[in-house]
Amino acid sequence: MEEPPIVVGVSGASGAPIALRVLRALSDAHVRVALVVSDGARTVLREECGLDEEALRPWASESYPDADLAAPIASGSVPTRGMVVVPCSTNTAAKVALGLADTLLTRAAAVHLKERRPLILVPRETPLSTITLRHLTTLSELGAVVLVASPPYYLRPKSVEEMTDYLAGKVLDQLGVTHHLYRGWRSGSG
Ligand SMILES: Cc1cc2nc3c(=O)[nH]c(=O)nc-3n(C[C@H](O)[C@H](O)[C@H](O)COP(=O)(O)O)c2cc1C
Repeated sequence: MEEPPIVVGVSGASGAPIALRVLRALSDAHVRVALVVSDGARTVLREECGLDEEALRPWASESYPDADLAAPIASGSVPTRGMVVVPCSTNTAAKVALGLADTLLTRAAAVHLKERRPLILVPRETPLSTITLRHLTTLSELGAVVLVASPPYYLRPKSVEEMTDYLAGKVLDQLGVTHHLYRGWRSGSG
């Protein structure tokens, strides 16, 4: 029997290259991916990568429109290995923290919370408003992992690509998927 997919939700925060790297790495690891891209993410994807949503589809085994609330991943009865929202906009974080589920991405995140499955959120925003901090605290208390897209200066990255690899690697660590995206800290290794 096929392993259940990991749900990758791409929302409209800055950081679309991290989503691309996560999708490529999951595909390289032969992990099935169910992909959902928000309307906001489409704009950011164009701005940051010059790509449209269709460019992400080859990396996923299944993909669904954000408006498709009847998609399999909208139901807790369909097994998954977990979900990552990468990048995670403050808008999406707010909706998920408040239990609003009017899009497939936010509904799938709500399902992961209610089913107590892994949910990883990757916000990029800075500075963070008090209201977003409250939402992220709520999500953390509910069991989600808030994995902020902050650069690993301690590893002395030489390029944006290296930082992106590191962040994608941190996501895969949380999902329990083996990768070679970054090497962990060793004193004097920089
Ligand atoms: C180029 C660009 C960068 C953005 N960066 C961020 C960001 O880093 N964090 C954020 O919360 N919103 C950011 N936004 C705003 C969101 O895209 C916007 O709030 C959108 O409604 C989010 O929708 P979604 O949550 O359905 O994806 C950005 C928008 C654009 C066009």
